[in-house]
Amino acid sequence: MNFNLWLNNKVESVEQALKENCTNNENLQKIIYEAMGYSLFAGGKRLRPIIMLGVNEMLSGDSEQVLPFACAMEMIHTYSLIHDDLPAMDNDDYRRGRLSNHKKFGETTAILAGDGLLNMAFEVMSRYSLNSDIDKEIALKAIYTIANSAGTEGMIGGQVVDMFCEDSIKDVNGLEYLQRYKTGAIIRSSAVVGGILGGASKEELEKIEMFADKLGLAFQIQDDILDVEGDEAKLGKPIGSDDENNKKTYVTMIGLEKSKQMQHKLTNEAIDALSCFGERNKMLVELCKYLLDREK
Ligand code: IPE
Ligand code: IPE
Ligand code: MG
Ligand code: MG
Ligand code: MG
Repeated sequence: MNFNLWLNNKVESVEQALKENCTNNENLQKIIYEAMGYSLFAGGKRLRPIIMLGVNEMLSGDSEQVLPFACAMEMIHTYSLIHDDLPAMDNDDYRRGRLSNHKKFGETTAILAGDGLLNMAFEVMSRYSLNSDIDKEIALKAIYTIANSAGTEGMIGGQVVDMFCEDSIKDVNGLEYLQRYKTGAIIRSSAVVGGILGGASKEELEKIEMFADKLGLAFQIQDDILDVEGDEAKLGKPIGSDDENNKKTYVTMIGLEKSKQMQHKLTNEAIDALSCFGERNKMLVELCKYLLDREK
């Protein structure tokens, strides 16, 4: 199958599953569903679900079983973006091509919409695990992996370092530490959960995690590059935000040229990590290459 078609099919199945899983009601609290849906259905790339589904497919897994976990991951990611844009954090007014959540609904609702998405993620995964014939230990392992990667030993830890510990980042190693938590953690767990649900062996899971680790770093370098030379209309979020917030990024620390070299090196390493899967790695290899030149 052609890669673009593969990618579109995956995005479509995630969109469909998100619609089915993002519950709604007309009660007094209905504004929260409006605010959650506003950010969730705003055209994100769905990269983390795609990685989860792609890894699972490489192992010939059952995509029906993966979709609830993929949706949960996208809910967690979307919550993190809503909170990341708040005035207390990056103070950004645009996200996914529209006003950021707090600009549209106010800070109170935006904070609650983020909290709502985070909790909904765990509802979706646990409801599916209770109501389907999925192996309960495997499901629990997947939920734990996601919780751990999104928490203080993962994404939230990274956001803390990003907000408060910038002075202690003195070189690329320090920056990699930050990025492995902030962006890398949930990208790695997306891949690993795809593997867990696909019945990967311990050795296979190690390779899958290595692939996602390198891909996550390459992905964040492109995010930093786009913050400098991206096109806001295509990117859907403001450029120059890192500079305005005095953020240390690959670009500010090693410059554009070296950042690009590093991004290519990491992408090749991500691809190499999948070599043990032979031909079955094809779509994930294409995904790595596609992300190198992404404009959004
Ligand atoms: C943005 O993530 C935040 C980072 C971790 C760099 P994405 O670039 O995946 O954003 P969406 O989901 O497509 O909006
Ligand atoms: C945010 O990183 C990562 C998380 C939300 C955890 P950034 O602050 O670099 O993301 P953008 O550039 O605003 O999307
Ligand atoms: Mg940030
Ligand atoms: Mg930000
Ligand atoms: Mg950024």
